[in-house]
Amino acid sequence: MIHKRLFPVLLLGILCLPSCTHHSAHYREQKELLGELLFHDTSLSEPAGQSCATCHTLAKGFADVESRPVSEGAVKGLYSQRNAMTVSYSMFVPDLYYDEEEETYVGGLFWDGRASTLQAQAGEPFLNPVEMGNSDRRMVVDKVKRTPYYSQLLHIYGETEDVDSIYAHITDALAMYQSSKKVCPFSSKYDAYKKGSYTLTAQEKLGLELFKHKGLCAECHILDRDVRARRTLFTDHTYDNLGIPKNPENPHYRVPSEYFLLTSDSLDLGLGAIVRKPEENGKFRVPTLRNVELTAPYGHNGYFKTLGEIVHFYNVRDVSNEFPPAEYPATVNKDELGDLKLTAEEEAALVAFMKTLTDGYMKKGHHKDK
Ligand code: HEC
Ligand code: HEC
Repeated sequence: MIHKRLFPVLLLGILCLPSCTHHSAHYREQKELLGELLFHDTSLSEPAGQSCATCHTLAKGFADVESRPVSEGAVKGLYSQRNAMTVSYSMFVPDLYYDEEEETYVGGLFWDGRASTLQAQAGEPFLNPVEMGNSDRRMVVDKVKRTPYYSQLLHIYGETEDVDSIYAHITDALAMYQSSKKVCPFSSKYDAYKKGSYTLTAQEKLGLELFKHKGLCAECHILDRDVRARRTLFTDHTYDNLGIPKNPENPHYRVPSEYFLLTSDSLDLGLGAIVRKPEENGKFRVPTLRNVELTAPYGHNGYFKTLGEIVHFYNVRDVSNEFPPAEYPATVNKDELGDLKLTAEEEAALVAFMKTLTDGYMKKGHHKDK
């Protein structure tokens, strides 16, 4: 029996619940669609011609459209210092913090952890002189006001003339798109395999075994379900120095000095420069390996052109002279990589396994969701 005093509340709940949840789901979807338009709009750079998608393209696993080691900014000849990362699954990266127990930094967006949320991050590229090149927020807002979708922005977020508020609405919509199913679909062969609707080939299975055991990959690209994503992200969001060499092909070395972002010795200190601790110099965040098949070249400076090359580096770094010395030797991890004793066949199996992490398999109809 329903208590008399609760009845009106319940009635209200029954009447309101379906429409209210529908309402917020509807708004969520509107924000995602708006964010998608903003993300692909090449009129928002200075000069025009570049969008977020130039450096984060769907077909490239949301990395650089031309698979360049370092992307060129809206102004020709200007380059930042690092390889464009995928934006897929970044929504699950926690804020940067120090884990006392594990004695390691965890989380933070970018290779060096310097941004906290997708919202905060999305405000940066528009104003970065080596990326989209606008001089201030007003310049971006004025451009958005000239777009056909500006009326939608007002409709969703409300009317305001305050530049900072409009800028926050723009970055919120971008974050919503980047957290949407379109960008984070969990639809790879690996996901299908976990659901029991894809059988790994013999080579992929061997790759997974090596990934867990002999290759030690899962020490950092962990297979446990991520606490936020509740699926495997193939990263524990921690930091390491793999001993990756300088990339002589990095065009950042040739930008005018006022745009130069490295040390006077041309070193990229990574996390160390952010937390200002020399023992963290040369460390970069462990990236997700989802869609890694599409995001070449690899590493924070795009040193490795193929997956085969980076796997070979993990395997033989310390026992061959095929690779130049580490860019920042003092903090290199010598325990978990460098001499894995993998055969050529085993290296190939690891690559085959990583190719099962490419999204799009399940929606192509190979998969029947049960
Ligand atoms: C000119 C190329 C370029 C453009 C344009 C660009 N990005 Fe990026 N993006 C990068 C690079 C390079 C990095 C890594 C930078 C670093 O670590 O220092 C990055 C990193 C990111 C990350 C961090 C991902 C992670 O897991 O830490 C996000 C999110 C992101 N970009 C979103 C955007 C959005 C949103 C836009 C448009 C407003 C945008 N980017 C425009 C090159 C670009
Ligand atoms: C000690 C931790 C650790 C281990 C073990 C490890 N990785 Fe990584 N991995 C990282 C870090 C950190 C990066 C980014 C390093 C950088 O760019 O400076 C990375 C980057 C990568 C990349 C490049 C991704 C990209 O988007 O550019 C691939 C591919 C990769 N790892 C595969 C593997 C494989 C395969 C194994 C096992 C053979 C492995 N990793 C073992 C920490 C680790």
